[in-house]
Amino acid sequence: MAVQWYPGHMNKARRIIKDTMSEVDLVIEVMDARIPFSSENPMVAELRQHRPCIKILNKSDLADPATTKLWMAHLEKEQGVKAQALSVLDKSRTKNLPDLCRKLLPDRGTAVKSIRVMIMGIPNVGKSTLINTLAGKTLAKVGDEPAVTKVVSSAQHRILLSGNIALSDTPGILWPKIENENSSYRLAVTGAIKNTAIDFEDIALFAADYLIDAYAEKIVERYKLKQTPQTGTELLEEIGRRRGCLRGGGIIDMNRASEILIHEIRSGALGALSFETPAMIAEETVVDEEEDEPEQG
Ligand code: G4P
Repeated sequence: MAVQWYPGHMNKARRIIKDTMSEVDLVIEVMDARIPFSSENPMVAELRQHRPCIKILNKSDLADPATTKLWMAHLEKEQGVKAQALSVLDKSRTKNLPDLCRKLLPDRGTAVKSIRVMIMGIPNVGKSTLINTLAGKTLAKVGDEPAVTKVVSSAQHRILLSGNIALSDTPGILWPKIENENSSYRLAVTGAIKNTAIDFEDIALFAADYLIDAYAEKIVERYKLKQTPQTGTELLEEIGRRRGCLRGGGIIDMNRASEILIHEIRSGALGALSFETPAMIAEETVVDEEEDEPEQG
């Protein structure tokens, strides 16, 4: 991400979205199916209030389908929420979204009353791609910078979809949830945040450690390993050796090996991977709460 979000930017984005909510009947929050917790913005619940919300687990072509199912069930526990897995590769599913909007608001979407829909989400989750697919044409992409965060809900900025769905042509851009350390890493691994303060090798190491635990068979197959590496460092060294990332004296270039691993994760070359499950997040939340508790005595 080119620009860091500061409290002032967040407040501004929040204020603009809050102001336009009176012109919105239904919210579509786009999230990354590989990291639904980390790519969700908790402010959506506060901003949308009683309005129904469709949570899109986008890029589901890159996510583990079994884990995506678990997330859908988990997300739908929230009042007024319907979850939907989508992928740019499957445009027919996207085209069914207007039907889903009408199901959630059966009293609207008539010739008299349109359903005014706004798409929201953090940068890079696929908001623009989704708007373009629904609109059937390529609209200019707004920048992700907080300074240009603007939500235009006036009639001339709405795209009319089938069944009288009036979709805002500009998405509401929200800030990524970076208060949790693991979330920062997951956002960096998947590319939701491109330039972070975290060292690139650290990001690859985080991913390598996770893959050894969660997807050992995929890495063994992809990098033609004889056995599962014991540590993330060992995996990066193996990748370096096998892909010829060597510096003078036969020293492995860990930075290049890190780039290969991250690139192959992001492109889907390693297969469909999810980087968090509802159970993992529940466990991490308990640990965080315990760490936050003041010590007794
Ligand atoms: P945004 O408006 O939320 O910021 O996201 P945008 O639509 O620009 O999409 C960000 C990147 O994600 C784009 O790749 C886009 O093609 C890709 N993308 C969107 N939806 C899907 C999907 O369902 N599956 C996959 N695999 N990719 C998807 P890009 O232009 O190449 O950008 P980048 O990847 O270099 O950031």
